[in-house]
Amino acid sequence: MNVLRGNQGPRYKAAAGAEEPFETITVDKLTPIIGAEIGGVDLSSPSNRQLDEIHRALAENQVIFFRDQELTPEQHLDFGRHFGPLHLHPAAPHAPGHPELMIIHADKDSPRANGENWHSDVSCDELPPLGSILYIKTCPPRGGDTLFASMYAAYEALSERMQTYLEGLTALHDGEHVYRGLYANYGVADKPAYPRAEHPVVRTHPVTGRKALYVNRGFTRRILGIPRDESEGVLRYLYEHMENPLFQCRFRWRANSVAFWDNRCVQHHAMWDYWPHTRSGFRVTVRGDKPA
Ligand code: SIN
Repeated sequence: MNVLRGNQGPRYKAAAGAEEPFETITVDKLTPIIGAEIGGVDLSSPSNRQLDEIHRALAENQVIFFRDQELTPEQHLDFGRHFGPLHLHPAAPHAPGHPELMIIHADKDSPRANGENWHSDVSCDELPPLGSILYIKTCPPRGGDTLFASMYAAYEALSERMQTYLEGLTALHDGEHVYRGLYANYGVADKPAYPRAEHPVVRTHPVTGRKALYVNRGFTRRILGIPRDESEGVLRYLYEHMENPLFQCRFRWRANSVAFWDNRCVQHHAMWDYWPHTRSGFRVTVRGDKPA
């Protein structure tokens, strides 16, 4: 149990466990709860042993970061394929000839930037992404950080009463209000319809077995099977709760950095505080399973 009450210490305490050492990569945690910077690996040609350890580092830290990487589009895509088949974004523009390589770009002419709200990528899909691998090539002089929040920590810090209440509830996630017209500035024509799906409010991670909150401000419309006003109240409480900085880490990008986050247990929020400067890169997204 990680929840502490009254004056017994912080609201959430990361479970202290002896973690096995890594042999082929270095892992430097950003916080005790979420995030780690990985060293000693060239993502253009990782060994099988390094890939296994990267997989474990992701499971243990939920989001991992790599510096000073030189990746071609093919190498970026190949790195993603080591973790599963790639996901095709239902709306966003992609690199010419590479439908799985999503463009992440904002500059002085942009009407908006990607991911300026807490979300888990494309949670409106029936099979939402396992993870996202963002490679930023061009950074503004300052700003453009990305915030990541652990949905394990958010779930574990809820009271047992609230955990019991949420058990078995499902929520509707919808892409329609998010994606319609969103990429018109890139000349992307709207589709007749965007994905929508029903997912558990609390999901169990297929690798770690830990429970994570799985509703987000971006895509979740309502909790099903309860009155609408109750759904609004519960979602409002959960969103405020999960945005507690205690559950977060913040990544400061440099050119040629890579962030790999696990959408099954992490939400993220990109800061667009660098206008009129340019921030630019590509995202490869790995397809996931039906949340359980
Ligand atoms: C996103 O994939 O949601 C954008 C994240 C970022 O640009 O940092």
